Amino acid sequence: MNILKFRSQKELNQAGAGMIIEILQTNPGAVLGLATGGTPVGIYQELAAAHRQGLVSYAKAAVFNLDEYVGLERGHPESYYSYMQRHLLGKIDIPPKQCHIPDGMAADLESECRRYDRVLEEAGPIDLQMLGIGHNGHIGFNEPDEELEHVTHIVELQEQTREANARFFGMPEKVPAQAITMGVGTILKAKRILLVVRGPDKADIVKRALQGPVTTKCPASFLQTHPDVTVLLDTDAGSGLG
Ligand code: F6R
Repeated sequence: MNILKFRSQKELNQAGAGMIIEILQTNPGAVLGLATGGTPVGIYQELAAAHRQGLVSYAKAAVFNLDEYVGLERGHPESYYSYMQRHLLGKIDIPPKQCHIPDGMAADLESECRRYDRVLEEAGPIDLQMLGIGHNGHIGFNEPDEELEHVTHIVELQEQTREANARFFGMPEKVPAQAITMGVGTILKAKRILLVVRGPDKADIVKRALQGPVTTKCPASFLQTHPDVTVLLDTDAGSGLG
């Protein structure tokens, strides 16, 4: 595991964007796994800027998002579909048919999960999967549990997760109770993983995930079992590491 700490957010963002740009420059048809939430926004800004400057094209790339809320229309400002359009996909040259995100409004959510895995299986493996981490150690929306799911599935969001995401919705009650998420098995199948973490409130979970025991009680700890993980931390998020 390659752990890099940054004092400046700008440099962290440039390092994250740089990895993605390098992959696309070597392999224009790369398959990227993408995340939402507060953490990747600065990286997406760098990627959009690099595209504007003509440094990188996404015309042949494919992107797969980790997750989507259940029950939000695509057009809802807090759906992950809207988030991705706003922060990245609407600003680059990727054809819509190459952008994949689970459909949280599907009438049959189970078959939507199977469909997502099928499309990913056909296009994959993912060349680089970007991840953030929840305060409880979730990756995607794989919440801590006795057992973890391998494949795409429907998940009940834990209170802590809904509270953390209330900042986007105004109040925890408005955060959807369920989401569709890629499973931990799918995430670990990616050839390379890029975990990005910022802020002092994540210092404890970073330490548990990267240096604690590998346990389903901290889904991100399974990243320790993957052969090619890069972790980008700001100084605060990395402050607990020994
Ligand atoms: C987002 C996702 C989540 C977030 C995590 C951290 O697609 O799957 O695992 O990465 O909840 O969220 P932020 O970045 O908002 O702290």
